[in-house]
Amino acid sequence: MTYTVAVAGASGYAGGEALRLLADNPNFDVTTVTAHSKVGETLGQNMPHIPTLANLVLKDTTAENLNGHDVVFLALPHGASGELASHLDPKTVVVDLGADHRLEEKSAWDAFYGGHFYDHWTYGMPELILGHAADGTYAKQRENLSGITRIAGPGCNVTATTLALQPGIAEGIVDTKDIVATLVVGYSGAGKSLKRPNLLASEAMGSAQAYGVGGTHRHIPEILQNLAHSAGKDASAASDFTMSFTPVLAPMPRGIFATVTAKLSAKGAAMSDADIRAVWEKAYADEYFMHLLPEGIIPATGNVIGSNAAHLQVVVDRATGRLVAMSAIDNLNRGTAGQAMQALNIALGIKESQGLTTIGVAP
Ligand SMILES: NC(=O)c1ccc[n+]([C@@H]2O[C@H](COP(=O)([O-])OP(=O)(O)OC[C@H]3O[C@@H](n4cnc5c(N)ncnc54)[C@H](OP(=O)(O)O)[C@@H]3O)[C@@H](O)[C@H]2O)c1
Repeated sequence: MTYTVAVAGASGYAGGEALRLLADNPNFDVTTVTAHSKVGETLGQNMPHIPTLANLVLKDTTAENLNGHDVVFLALPHGASGELASHLDPKTVVVDLGADHRLEEKSAWDAFYGGHFYDHWTYGMPELILGHAADGTYAKQRENLSGITRIAGPGCNVTATTLALQPGIAEGIVDTKDIVATLVVGYSGAGKSLKRPNLLASEAMGSAQAYGVGGTHRHIPEILQNLAHSAGKDASAASDFTMSFTPVLAPMPRGIFATVTAKLSAKGAAMSDADIRAVWEKAYADEYFMHLLPEGIIPATGNVIGSNAAHLQVVVDRATGRLVAMSAIDNLNRGTAGQAMQALNIALGIKESQGLTTIGVAP
């Protein structure tokens, strides 16, 4: 079966990556693309790297233009998709790559975003651990995605941080009140529109700069929500977690390298390095897109660009009593459109990995 698809925000980076994956996938036929300031331009003017869709003309982002398709991707600034989505056909499978439907707690939305709080949708991270199942294996978010029609695509920094640390949370081997995450982030994470002079190449090349510092970054509540779920608790338990979070822009177009450290709990401190590593091995053993690298090999963003894979490593710093978990992902693929496609495949009953790759573009 071929599903017709409309992509809103098709002139932006997230929408562009969704189109790149959809264009080459025989299960999907992109028939409508919409935008905001670029309405009337062709996709070829905005996404010249996708020649097969070059003749599509960008339309207004309205429910009228988006309805009538089997699948709709929303790749819009936060706040723009919530109202629009409420006018979309309930039978259409809608994937929101923005933040409007990710948070389960209104208090978290109010504290970090503000404006209208929309209902949360099923969270599109198949590998998210949801505590232990009755048989001792991990319950995972994949089990909630089958047959659904509303998917909330996770944030990119959220994905890198969650995938790195969640096995340690699920097994209770780290102190949930002492987590520090520092992320090196490529500039496409800031979107394509020219928002600030510090995003210009002349400012960014050869320079690194932190942003969203001091506990202000909007991805913090989403990460804490995920970690609460990994511990087998509901979103209200996010307040049991404390994390210092600092993203740093680095002069690369794509990629996120996350270093997440956490104080070992009494249980973790009593475990050997090999037993701690085995926790990550167990959590991701059957996960096609998760690659715990061999001991001593450190992940690098350069190895995951263009792929839906996450490269992971975990080590123990005994001198400080801290766990050090690392991940490298492509923010636009694994961190946005690839992960969303994976969740969409599950929702539609297609093979989960269809149209996605674990193979990066290197160097
Ligand atoms: N970039 C990433 O790495 C990443 C990762 C995960 C999630 N996301 C999320 O994906 C969404 C899009 O991000 P992006 O990086 O793709 O941003 P972007 O490159 O700036 O693209 C934004 C898109 O939205 C359109 N747009 C802007 N204002 C609009 C409005 N008021 N109504 C309708 N359309 C509007 C733009 O159209 P025009 O170009 O025609 O103005 C453009 O197509 C955001 O919610 C972001 O948080 C991004």
